[in-house]
Amino acid sequence: MSESAPRRRLLPLTDLVGGGRSRATCVLRCGDACFHPAPNTSGNAYFGDIFQKVVDRRAALRAGAVTAGASAFGFAALAPAHADRDRGGHGHGRDPRLEFRSVSPNNDDKVTVPHGYDQHVVVRWGDPVLPGAPEFDVRNQTAQAQAQQFGYNCDYVGFLEMGDDKALLWVNHEYTNENIMFPGYTDPATADTEYIRIAMAAHGGSLVELERDSRGRGRGRGGRNSGKWKLAEGRRRFNRRITTSTPMRLSGPAAGHELLRTEADPSGTEVLGMLNNCAGGMTPWGTFLTAEENFHQYFGSAPGTPETDRYGLSTSPSYRRWERVEERFDLSKHPNEANRFGYIVEIDPLDPDSTPVKHTMLGRFKHEGATTRLTDDRRVAVYMGDDERFDYMYKFVSAERYIRGRRRHNTGLLDSGTLYVAKLTGNSPAEEIDGTGALPSDGAFDGSGEWIALCTDTESFVDGFSVAEVLVHTRLAADAVGATKMDRPEDFEASPVTGKVYCALTNNSAREPGQADEPNPRGPNRYGHILEIVESGGDAAATSFDWNVPIVCGDPEDDDTYFAGYDKSKVMPISAPDNLTFDADGNLWISTDGQPGSMGYADALHAVPVEGRYRGELKTFATVPVRAEACGPFITPDNKTVFLGPQHPGDNGTFDAPTSTWPDGDFPRPSVVCIWQRNGQDIGK
Ligand code: FEO
Ligand code: CA
Ligand code: CA
Repeated sequence: MSESAPRRRLLPLTDLVGGGRSRATCVLRCGDACFHPAPNTSGNAYFGDIFQKVVDRRAALRAGAVTAGASAFGFAALAPAHADRDRGGHGHGRDPRLEFRSVSPNNDDKVTVPHGYDQHVVVRWGDPVLPGAPEFDVRNQTAQAQAQQFGYNCDYVGFLEMGDDKALLWVNHEYTNENIMFPGYTDPATADTEYIRIAMAAHGGSLVELERDSRGRGRGRGGRNSGKWKLAEGRRRFNRRITTSTPMRLSGPAAGHELLRTEADPSGTEVLGMLNNCAGGMTPWGTFLTAEENFHQYFGSAPGTPETDRYGLSTSPSYRRWERVEERFDLSKHPNEANRFGYIVEIDPLDPDSTPVKHTMLGRFKHEGATTRLTDDRRVAVYMGDDERFDYMYKFVSAERYIRGRRRHNTGLLDSGTLYVAKLTGNSPAEEIDGTGALPSDGAFDGSGEWIALCTDTESFVDGFSVAEVLVHTRLAADAVGATKMDRPEDFEASPVTGKVYCALTNNSAREPGQADEPNPRGPNRYGHILEIVESGGDAAATSFDWNVPIVCGDPEDDDTYFAGYDKSKVMPISAPDNLTFDADGNLWISTDGQPGSMGYADALHAVPVEGRYRGELKTFATVPVRAEACGPFITPDNKTVFLGPQHPGDNGTFDAPTSTWPDGDFPRPSVVCIWQRNGQDIGK
């Protein structure tokens, strides 16, 4: 759009709200999810209601977890011509420790890294991605140009090695903030519809080729073993943009079902685009999984049925008013269109012409991410959170085994298997969980859990639900089986060393003290916590598990925080844990989304050992610019580089009155940075 577009009233989206976000982030990212009653009105128990004493099996399972390490798995180098390979941890001692000195809490408008580390902005909103893409001109944006350029708001960052010095970087573009994207932007209900088309093109994802920067050594430079990566020069045949109009295929048991059929797609198998893709993951066969999260906000005029209410679909016109451009976003005219969003989408980075696949077998909810592990018999398990207050944790286990190198076979693995939802039980008396965060008398928030089967690809286990209904109305099916209401389950990640699985529970200001339970022990939960899951026998296929809460987030000086029993005078504050990743030594890295509002300073990337004597020694590795959320942490398999995607810098400003000018000093541009140690050593060493 040109600068001469008519100016109208700016939207009143500049104030901070509870939960640590700006008003703009709430409206534009999550569709105001926290300003509505939680959509889960099921009578499912908070754990305190269903206290049941269980035998403490922690010691036995800890022993089992050692063997579990053999089947644990992260993802690493997959050259196109090569078969897949598992990645084990390397060089992990008994007591891993992170050696960097923490970055201090701050509100600086930059990425701050520890002493001895350096950083580089790898790719910015608007950078050309496709061949022939125009250079970015913020005052003359067009949808056509944006569809060829790097999209907005970077969330999940995936990295696929293509040899020692080449790689592919996948980045989710979760949502847009038109107030800071467009000069003179006004009201979406009346603004020029080209703004909407640009926003549609800025959603989705980008795939870009990278190369290691090998020019020289020293400060700000790379070197032969450098952790510095940059956009590849020359021919970039894998580069790709996925947008809201990219054709995708619905697969799995619900594909073609009448719930997924529309006037434009009577087959119920073809859908345009993906929405609000938040976190993600990688498969062992080298594809990216990207998770559609708050898709509800793009649709208006829902019929107000139990099915649409449970997903937060509004009966009013949408805030974004995309229905002004594409009628399919008006549910009064196309009621099934919203059933075609809210899935895990698989992207094949090695085939730029491939059709992305929406996997109905993995259920439909506000998917935060998708983390894959192999089971002991080499089937594929996928762990997934539904990021909403009082919603659930899910797991899928494939029917067939993963076979290394059999790509065609492997790409079908997510279409058949079993979808489970988690039910957690604590082992302390309910009266000892009082909502303050005070530890119960056994010294731990812990207990056991079960994965309740919802359906396989051929059989439903939920009364009154067909297989397709379980997979399209997954939240309602999970309500019916008594799943445990969690405090916004976000990212899952599995330790490459022990196989233990971790989940970030961001916060839940709506949990009343009387609703506190052992797995969600504070009410309200302003700062979030981390859950550690040990599957029975260490096997990702297990249908039972033990769990504990190693970290209860917040200011370590506050009594309601807990850092695995570590000396709290030696740990850093953390709030609103969101995305997780591991380094090769098995240390857990946690990025946050909401520290500015809840603690008063910038979001950050923290890291903490989860094994050995330093378990709980949480440090702050990086802070992100003003109002940004720290997204997409990924540590390369060689342990030399951290990728970080600060998204929505300056989200409480406008283009004309920015509150952040990161990274270039003019206007905020969501970007991906890489961080490495100047002396060439591993991250954290
Ligand atoms: Fe997009 Fe749940 O964060
Ligand atoms: Ca306990
Ligand atoms: Ca997230």
